[in-house]
Amino acid sequence: MDTVTIKVRRHDPTAGEPPRLEEYRIPHQEGMRILDALLYIYEEVDPSLAHRYSCKIGNCKVCQMKADGKTVYACQERLQDGMVLEPLPSFEEVRDLVCNLHKRVKLMVGD
Ligand code: FES
Repeated sequence: MDTVTIKVRRHDPTAGEPPRLEEYRIPHQEGMRILDALLYIYEEVDPSLAHRYSCKIGNCKVCQMKADGKTVYACQERLQDGMVLEPLPSFEEVRDLVCNLHKRVKLMVGD
């Protein structure tokens, strides 16, 4: 079985530590989506990884995140080797890949 390596931004704003990118090696099967990888990590490697999903069919939008800087639905986007996963930057951060989709934050670009 092939493997892919992805990096996931980990951060708990209540812990007082800076965000970090954590690397995970995932067994890869043809047609895998990002959500499949996150479920694998959560169930087999690290249950402390926070992410969110519901419908798994691209309908509810709660699995939105950034993958290599592009906004995607984790349940719909194909998993690629070397992907970097981050939470949506324009919403209040909750933990890891989870943000409060009801609370937008202002993004300040530059100084
Ligand atoms: S889980 Fe509902 S859109 Fe992805």
